[in-house]
This record gives sequence, C-alpha cells and structure tokens, in this order.
Amino acid sequence: MAEEDTSGKLLELATPLLRGRTLGKFLDFDGISLYLKWEGANPTGTHKDRAALLHVKRASMQNIDTVTAGTCGNYGVALAHYARAFGLKAVIFVPRDYENDRLGEMVRRRAEVVFVDGGYEEAVEASVEAAKANGWYDANPGSVNRELGFEAYSRIAEEIVKQLGDAPYAVSIPVGNGTTLAGIYKGFLRMYREGYSTGIPKLIAATTSHVNQLALEWYGVSHRLLETLNIKETWVNEPLVAVKALDADEALEALRCTGGTVYTFEDDEMVEAALLSRVLERVPALPASASAILALAKLKSEEEVKGPLVAVVTGRWRRRR
Ligand SMILES: Cc1ncc(COP(=O)(O)O)c(C=O)c1O
Repeated sequence: MAEEDTSGKLLELATPLLRGRTLGKFLDFDGISLYLKWEGANPTGTHKDRAALLHVKRASMQNIDTVTAGTCGNYGVALAHYARAFGLKAVIFVPRDYENDRLGEMVRRRAEVVFVDGGYEEAVEASVEAAKANGWYDANPGSVNRELGFEAYSRIAEEIVKQLGDAPYAVSIPVGNGTTLAGIYKGFLRMYREGYSTGIPKLIAATTSHVNQLALEWYGVSHRLLETLNIKETWVNEPLVAVKALDADEALEALRCTGGTVYTFEDDEMVEAALLSRVLERVPALPASASAILALAKLKSEEEVKGPLVAVVTGRWRRRR
C-alpha cells in the first residue's frame, strides 16, 4: 500500500512475510511451513499504522482538521504519527491509570493527550462523544468510520496471498476488539472472489486468558459472568484485554465461516514465545503479538495441518521508555 502525505512523500506500508524455519523446527512443525507476517516493520511498530493512515487520509480529504481515538497505546502513537504527517491534529483519549509506555511517543508527535477515568472502553466512549460534539473525525473501532479499519487490515490478507502465491492453510491473529481479524477475513474473501487464491484460510484468534469478550462468546461463557472472572490487565496482555470487544460480531462471523477457533494464553507463555521469536528468527515480536505463534503451535497439536501456516505478528517489542 503506497500513500502520499501532504509533502508528497510516499508512505509505503507493505510488510514482509518471513519464513520461520528455525522457530518451526524448534516448535516441531515437521514438514509444515511456518511464516511470520511481520507487522512490527511498520513505521510506528504495529499494524495499527494501516488503520491510522487510512483514517487520517479520509479526514484530510473531508477537510476535518482533528482526528480522535481512545487507546491504551499502539493505536494512539500511529494516529499521532500520521496526523502529524498530514498536518492534522490528533486528540488521543487514554485511561488515566493504565500502564502506558507509549505516551511519550504520542506527545512527541504533538498529539493532545486527554486522560479518562476508567478503562479502554471509557476512553473510546469519551473520544466518540468529543468527536460528535466538536465535529472531529472519529477513528475509533466500532464507530461511524469502522469499515475503513476493516479495509486497512484487509490489505494484510492481500499481501499474504501475493507473497505466498495462494492462501495459506491457516492464519493466526492476535485479538483485542477483533477489528484486525475481521478486516483480514474481508481481505481473504476478496482475494478468493477475485480469483487470486484457491481458498480461504482458517482464521485463528489468539488472545489473553484474562479476559477477552470475544473468547468468552466463542466458548459460550455468559456476559454476566464477566465480573466474576479474573480480569487482569498487564503490560503483556494489555492490547488483547477487552471487556467489550468492539468488533466481536464481525470477528466471530469470520471464525465461524472459516472453520477457525480461539485460543487464549497466559502472560508468561506470550513472553516466552516473544523471546523465542527474537532469538531464533531475529524478529522482536511484542509479547501480545507472539500469541499468534502460540496459536499455530496449538492448532498443529490439535489437527492435521494441510498447508502453510502464517502468524500475523502485529507488533514490535521495543525498549521501555
Ligand atoms: C500489537 C497489537 N496486536 C493486536 C491488537 C488487537 O487488535 P484488534 O483490537 O483489532 O483485535 C492490538 C490492539 O491494540 C495491538 O496493539
């Protein structure tokens, strides 16, 4: 995907598909090709760049000078980055008490940061309300411009098909709101319908055990049980925790239509997978995004895998600031 900012500088957001040979060997993927779709290669270190870029571009085309979103970190940095590149203002709503090690990066990119009492859901709510009240562009998942988020992530699927020459057997995706997974599904569907691939891969959601609404729904756990569950937000699982997953319906539909499933993981498992990815493949995966690697290992242990596997490694593990 190549887009131009206002200075005419080309913004290229395609990411590499890396062959995970050593990791595959270590995890006993005998005879199965393992690939890592390396979204950490994006300018601000996560796949969120893709959605942020398209939203900022649309805001700019609509002559709206301010974009807003609620975030715990990665999306806020991405939105601040592209808003600045296009000469727009970003107003980012963040939960006051969250451990957020990317705040400094938002501020350095000239974003206005507004602290909100409550969690991620309250930050999104505050941002949506502010957008309505002030005529700002609403870049939140689950809101008026939500389709553009799906479109942005659908390009991950397009790239995978082009890079592999066909659709893989299965693709695993770290899940919070479910926007990324739903968008990737739309991309695979489009590639299949347009004749670029011979099928649509199983989509596998990888998320935290503490807690994600989409995982609960998949396994038939009642919403009313949420309060009794062990909701524990940490620096590892934060991108994956969702008391309310804003695009759960679309993501669940994608899982059902592709014969996929959901796997949940503990923090220490994700950190271990991230370290393995770094040491064995020199891919510094963010622990939450390394859940995608764990999900493929789990899939392989549960069924006969009949083709290549792709883990969408959504973020880069950077030094804490
Ligand atoms: C690095 C990373 N991976 C995965 C996710 C989950 O994406 P989604 O909310 O689209 O399911 C996030 C969300 O913040 C993220 O930052």
